[in-house]
Amino acid sequence: MQTLLTDRPEEAASWLNRGETVAFPTETVYGLGADAFNADAVAKIFKAKGRPSDNPLIVHVATPDRIGEVAREISDTAKMLVERFFPGPLTLVLKKRDVVPEIVSAGLPTIGVRCPSHPVASEFLRYCKHPVAAPSANLSGRPSPTDWKTVYHDLGGRIACLLRGEPSTIGLESTIVDCTVNPPCLLRTGAVSIESLRELVPDIEIATAYKPGEAPKSPGQKYRHYSPEAEIVLVETPLQNLPTDSRTAWIGLSAAPEGAAKTLQCRDMAEYARVLFGFFRTCDAEGISKIYCELPPEEGIGRAIRDRLVKAAGIK
Ligand code: TXA
Ligand code: MG
Repeated sequence: MQTLLTDRPEEAASWLNRGETVAFPTETVYGLGADAFNADAVAKIFKAKGRPSDNPLIVHVATPDRIGEVAREISDTAKMLVERFFPGPLTLVLKKRDVVPEIVSAGLPTIGVRCPSHPVASEFLRYCKHPVAAPSANLSGRPSPTDWKTVYHDLGGRIACLLRGEPSTIGLESTIVDCTVNPPCLLRTGAVSIESLRELVPDIEIATAYKPGEAPKSPGQKYRHYSPEAEIVLVETPLQNLPTDSRTAWIGLSAAPEGAAKTLQCRDMAEYARVLFGFFRTCDAEGISKIYCELPPEEGIGRAIRDRLVKAAGIK
C-alpha cells in the first residue's frame, strides 16, 4: 500500500471517511485513526500496528459536546473534568454506547474518549463524519511517535494516509481517568497531573501496577511499552559514578556524566517529556546500547515521565 503524505486536514479526513486509516498529529503524540463506527476500518488499525486485539482504542471527538455520540450516562464528576480539561491531554473512560462496535473497546462495556486541543487535529476531526478511534501511531511495543517522520518510519506502506503537522508539544500520551467507578480511578499518568485532578476529584484513586495473573485495570497495563532497543538504566539524582563508553547515552535534568557518547540535558520537565520518545528513537538509530535516564521529581508531569521510564526499563 502506498501511504499518501498530506498537509491538508480535509484531504486526510476524506480517506478516513472512506474507511481507510489515517495518522494525524495531536498535542500528546501522533495517533493512527479510523472511523470509530466502521468495524472493518478499525480492524485495519490493529493490523497496521500489530496491536493485540484485547487492547481497546481511545475515541477522539472534535468538540466536547460530541462525547455523547460514543458515551452514555456521563456522571457529574466526568462533566466537571470535561469542563475543566477538554479539549486537552485527558482521556475519560465512560459507559459505551451500543453504536460503537466491540472491536473499538475490545469487548469492554466502556469507552475511552478524548478531545485533542491540537489545531490540526481539531480541524481534521471536524471534517471526519464520525468520532475517530485512534491509538498512538507506532508499531505495537515501540515508543509513541511525536513527529510525522517517526510515524512514517514505523507505518509507511501500512496505512493509507499520513497528515503531517508540527512535532507534538507534550510528547507523552494522555492522562486516563476511569469515571465508571466510584471514586474515579487514574489509569495512566500524563500532562494532566494527579495534583490538578485532585483539585476537582479529591478522592481519586491511582490504579495499582499490573501484576501478571491478575485482571488489569486497563488492558494496556499488561503490555510492555515505550521500549527502545537499547537497555534503559534508571538513575536517581545525585549521580553516582556511572560507567560510560562510546555506546552509552544520557538523558535527564542534571548535567551528563563524563564520557557518554550522546547526551541530552533538559531545561525542565516539560522539555524532558517532549523529547524523551524521540531521544529513544535516535539512540536506536545511532546504535546506542545503554541509555541512562535520570528519574525526575515525582510531581506534575514528572510522574508521567517516571512511569514511561519504568515501563521502558521493563521493570514490573
Ligand atoms: O494521548 C493519547 O492518548 C494518544 C493520542 C493518539 O490520543 N493515544 C494513545 O492511545 O495513547 P493508546 O492506544 O496508545 O493507549 C490507549 C490506552 C491503552 O493502554 C488502553 O488499554 C487504554 O488506553 N484504554 C482504552 N480504552 C479503555 C477502556 N475502555 N478502559 C480502560 N482502558 C482503556
Ligand atoms: Mg500506544
